[in-house]
Amino acid sequence: MMNSPLRIWHPFTNSLLDPAPLQVERAEGVYLYTKDGRQILDAISSWWVNLHGHANPRIAAAIAAQAKKLEHVILAGFTHDGAEELAARLRKWVAPELTHLFFSDDGSTAVEVALKIAVQHFSNQGRAEKHEIVALEHGYHGDTAGAMSVSGDSPFTEPFRGMRYPVHRVHSAYCYRCPVGLRRETCHIECVQQLESLLAERGDKIAAVIVEPLLQGAGGMITHPVEFLRMVRALCTQHEVLLIADEVLTGFGRTGKMVACDLAGVVPDLMCLSKGITGGFLAMGVTLCSDRVEAAFRSEDRMHTFYHGHSYTGNALACAAANASLQVFDDEPVFDRIATIARINAERLALLRGFHQVGETRQIGTIGAVELRAGDAGYLSAMRPKLYQFFLERGVLLRPLGNVVYVLPPYVISPEELHRVYDVIEEAIQTLL
Ligand SMILES: Cc1ncc(COP(=O)(O)O)c(C=O)c1O
Repeated sequence: MMNSPLRIWHPFTNSLLDPAPLQVERAEGVYLYTKDGRQILDAISSWWVNLHGHANPRIAAAIAAQAKKLEHVILAGFTHDGAEELAARLRKWVAPELTHLFFSDDGSTAVEVALKIAVQHFSNQGRAEKHEIVALEHGYHGDTAGAMSVSGDSPFTEPFRGMRYPVHRVHSAYCYRCPVGLRRETCHIECVQQLESLLAERGDKIAAVIVEPLLQGAGGMITHPVEFLRMVRALCTQHEVLLIADEVLTGFGRTGKMVACDLAGVVPDLMCLSKGITGGFLAMGVTLCSDRVEAAFRSEDRMHTFYHGHSYTGNALACAAANASLQVFDDEPVFDRIATIARINAERLALLRGFHQVGETRQIGTIGAVELRAGDAGYLSAMRPKLYQFFLERGVLLRPLGNVVYVLPPYVISPEELHRVYDVIEEAIQTLL
């Protein structure tokens, strides 16, 4: 025992029920290569982070060069070229109203930062009572305590009921399972009325509404009508409540635009970005906010300072990766690749709709999802492990969210490779269900 190595405790993994992890030796483009000689097509961008392919040589070279110059420096009292360059590059891609950028470590911490900024924004103005948060059913914002509190109830949060702080949870526009029993073809987004009433009643106590704009990811790849997001925006403005757009998943082109809010023409007060920000190479989160939000922190009172920061905040290697990834957006036809993926998604999902085992298909840009009919719908659906293994045995990495199978590939996937992924999904539906 003394000499055996520590055993790695893998995330979202049951060490008794789940198969032993596969040992990946190297990766290139859309493929992972395992020690036992397998080649696996990564159709979920390794938990939604990879944009331009694994081991992208441009990003790899940028990190290597940066490591020889400056690996990291404390960001309080100091700054560095990479961080400044990233702030300048992001300027081009987000709404002009978003003027400030706060660095953190990952998606969860970007969310924590947004929530805390929202609450302190009001407390700094002598309105400490305006600290409550509203979130959507089926949402997912991360696994840290604050992010978990604003996420929807799920098997992920169940054991932590007691430690989640209280949040108002309102309907999501989950049209397939409409929370108010209507049909999208004839409805007027009545599901938003719950938020409307809540803000009318308690708007003076509420600091922020947090949403995953247009796509709730881990909750089941649930797409929302753009009108829903626009209505949420209008209600927040009306009641002087900040809108936090968690674009951790949707950012960096996944939905067809650089950020999902652009698809709806909505500008949030705070925006969280992570995952694809470094092209999938290194962990980094950022929270953007408007000048009006930050203005409440510009004060002669030191108690109005935002006392928050992580050790690796603004890490120089992560900044180098992010800058190189954004340079790829500038130099290469990334949005053409995105459009090709979106087109194939639409074609193949249309075919899948004809299968009786398919309840609904959903798509937003590069993300395609199939909700399978299941008596035990949800993350713990018995289908999940069977589907996962089936795909893996055919050399494709897909991690269904319970009875929802989704495709979320790196943008460098070829049309043939993407068709292959859909072929395997079709085969699974015909074989297993
Ligand atoms: C919308 C959203 N927000 C936040 C997070 C949390 O990000 P991280 O896992 O990097 O902490 C995720 C992760 O899946 C996410 O999808």
